[in-house]
Parts: sequence; structure tokens; C-alpha cells
Amino acid sequence: TNIRPARVDDLMGMQACNLRNLPENYTMRYYLYHLMTWPSLSYVAEDSKGRIVGYVLAKMEEDVGPDDEPHGHLTSISVLRSYRRLGLAKKLMIQSQEAMAAVYKAPYVALHVRKSNRPALSLYRDTLQFSVQDIEKKYYADGEDAYSMRLSLKP
Ligand code: ACO
Repeated sequence: TNIRPARVDDLMGMQACNLRNLPENYTMRYYLYHLMTWPSLSYVAEDSKGRIVGYVLAKMEEDVGPDDEPHGHLTSISVLRSYRRLGLAKKLMIQSQEAMAAVYKAPYVALHVRKSNRPALSLYRDTLQFSVQDIEKKYYADGEDAYSMRLSLKP
């Protein structure tokens, strides 16, 4: 499995992967917006035949209030079932985080995750050292709460 920056012709494969893995789905326009605006922040994992088996979709949050600063935001990550627990999500996250810091000087990266999503929580908190910033009640369309999480990217 190989990890590389996402390209426009990967978008169909990324969307297919997202549809199989998560209830939060996005329009093609929104994927394209990410790649066109922040081309260094989204990555894919491909198998030996070039099929997309995982992706990370990320952006910069630039419209922030007076008390905040522009920062990285992880929009979505997923890995196909048969490719899980191989370290792909960790690698995808680290690639994106490194680019947020190097290219955009992001001081931190933020994300939302379902309270019940144990694998993802463990990836963020235990493996990548994110911390829980807040709980956002009924953040998801089905009424589930989200943890709002953050990781400092300062050296
Ligand atoms: N149970 C417990 N811990 C886990 C699990 C699990 N099922 N999966 C991953 N982890 C933790 C472990 O600490 C793991 O390290 P280890 O394998 O050395 O113990 C660490 O995360 C790294 O795991 P990876 O192999 O890098 O993770 P993987 O490639 O399997 O992908 C992911 C993890 C993306 C959460 C995957 O399970 C998935 O696609 N799930 C469905 C989609 C999803 O929930 N995405 C996140 C939504 S939130 C958002 O997108 C902002």
C-alpha cells in the first residue's frame, strides 16, 4: 500500500470509500473544493493496482473569530475494512498534519468525532495524542454528540 497526495482523478475513489465507511458524506463539489484550495492536505492510500483503499480529506479553517487563529481541520478519514489496523490511518493523518504545519504554519489541527466511535477515538487520542476540547451536543444529523478534539502542531 502506497500513500500519496490526492489528485482530482482520485475523487471518485475517495467518495466511494467514504460512502462505504461513514454516514457523513459530501458532494463532489466539496471534495473538489478541498483539493483545489489546499492541494497538500489530502492524501490517499492505494493498493498495488492503484485502487483507493483509504483517504484523508483536510482543509484550513481560515474564517475564525477574533479569539482564534487559522488552523487545520480534519474533514474526514476512512480506510476500507480489509485494510484496517495496518497503520494506514495513522500515516495518512501524519502526512496531512505535517503539511498543515509546513505549508500553512497551522498552530493546531481540530476535528469532530462521534462519542461512540472507539476506533477513531483511539487513533486520535492514544496514537496521535489529540485531546478532547469540548463536547458538542447533537452535532450529528442523527442526534449523537461529538467530541471536538485538538492537537498542537507547534514544535
Ligand atoms: N479498536 C481500537 N483501537 C483502534 C482501532 C480499533 N478497531 N482501530 C485503530 N485503532 C487505534 C489503535 O491505537 C491503532 O494502533 P495499533 O493498531 O498499533 O493498536 C491506531 O488507532 C492506528 O490504527 P491504524 O491502523 O492507523 O487505523 P486504521 O487504518 O485501521 O483506520 C479508522 C482507523 C480510519 C478509524 C478506520 O477504523 C475507519 O475507517 N473507520 C470507519 C470510518 C471512521 O470512523 N472514520 C473516522 C470518522 S471521524 C473523522 O473523519 C474526522
